[in-house]
Amino acid sequence: MTKPNSLEQGVCIVRRSGGLTGRIRVPGDKSISHRAVMMSSLADGVSAISGFLESEDCIATLRAFEAMGVRSEQREDALVIHGRGGALSEPDDVLDMGNSGTGSRLLLGVLAGQDFCAALTGDASLRGRPMARVTEPLSRMGARFMGRDGGRKLPLMTQGGGLKGIEYASPVASAQIKSAILLAGLFAEGKTTIVEPGPSRDHTERMLRSYGVEVQSENGRVSLRGGQTLRTRDLDVPGDPSSAAFFTIGALITPESDLILENVGINPTRTGLYDVLLDMGADIAFENERLCGDEPVADLHVRHSPLRGVRVGGDTVVRMIDEFPIFSVAAAFAEGESTVEGAEELRVKESDRIAVMVGLLGRMGARIEERPDGFTVSGGAPLSGAQTDSKGDHRVAMSAAIAALNASGDTLIRGIAPIATSFPGFFDLLNQTAPGCAEVLE
Ligand code: S3P
Repeated sequence: MTKPNSLEQGVCIVRRSGGLTGRIRVPGDKSISHRAVMMSSLADGVSAISGFLESEDCIATLRAFEAMGVRSEQREDALVIHGRGGALSEPDDVLDMGNSGTGSRLLLGVLAGQDFCAALTGDASLRGRPMARVTEPLSRMGARFMGRDGGRKLPLMTQGGGLKGIEYASPVASAQIKSAILLAGLFAEGKTTIVEPGPSRDHTERMLRSYGVEVQSENGRVSLRGGQTLRTRDLDVPGDPSSAAFFTIGALITPESDLILENVGINPTRTGLYDVLLDMGADIAFENERLCGDEPVADLHVRHSPLRGVRVGGDTVVRMIDEFPIFSVAAAFAEGESTVEGAEELRVKESDRIAVMVGLLGRMGARIEERPDGFTVSGGAPLSGAQTDSKGDHRVAMSAAIAALNASGDTLIRGIAPIATSFPGFFDLLNQTAPGCAEVLE
């Protein structure tokens, strides 16, 4: 029996708006919320997570751990997890990870350490995404996988246990690969080391340390010894800088905007987009810098600014890997040329984000050209409303909405349902900051 594909569902109309104003909070960080569920489930006892992102992706991760014997409850404004101290139980049904690449790849790392059999699947987008990047190193550690395309794609069956630590040089700078290997390493004999070609987000290292695990990290090499136990703890999840990016760029490109985004994560492994925007001339002030749990945060004060074109490449790419759909919108409104290179990873995200954004912005009148590893935009061409399609990608849908705020006429966006995977309440917040700009039709 096939499931209806919710990725194509949901339609809205967005129209030109006045400035984005007010003071808002975006939802909790998706990367940290997934990890908080996983690590709290592996700790022995009760952990409370405040600011947990209640999105479809993170709930899929929570349900997967519940299917392996973990109990959770909602208490006041915290999600409480009763961890199993590493002793998960065999799930008696398929674990459905929905749209979540992070949830499924990190879970494969945890399952590699479990001496039982599990089956994993997801929606049409996730079933098309490469999994060998984690199953290959995890197999070298001793886990077994069987699945479509020679074990490269979901659905996958896993049989874990009996792992040995390895040293793995990843061909891709990817926090998902690094985290899957480190989580498996907790269950392996001896030391596990991952070497990365670039600095991917370091939430796993930071969080493992505060769950009491010793992690060494130096010059792109991250190691831990197997057999360490996780301590329970309470943690606060900061606002997601990848979600804040939509409102930041909305405010930068829309005249008369003056917007404050409170409590946004500013971990340096995540702030590539913000560095690039400052280079483009953006007026963004990072106010009240402080710590939220394991992570630095700030309130971002963003005002409408003229932007100039910029070149993005090298290590910045991985530091803004989820922000290229919305960056392409900023580039379309900047004076002069912007180029992105070395970003071929964008082709294997929730959609082929190079092809999809080039098609979408091109239809709205932007001068944008595809490159094998990125795109080039000649900014400043006026955009007009068009019929657009997210191709099932949450970040494309939200980027289309932000572009539409500054296009003449109405923009119809099909496929807005996936926004719930990362940013529940997106359109409510958009209408709060720019009243009347968006109408959700179905
Ligand atoms: C994530 C890592 C990134 C990012 C994803 C979240 C994580 O993926 O695109 O949205 O939480 O580790 P890759 O590591 O595959 O680049």
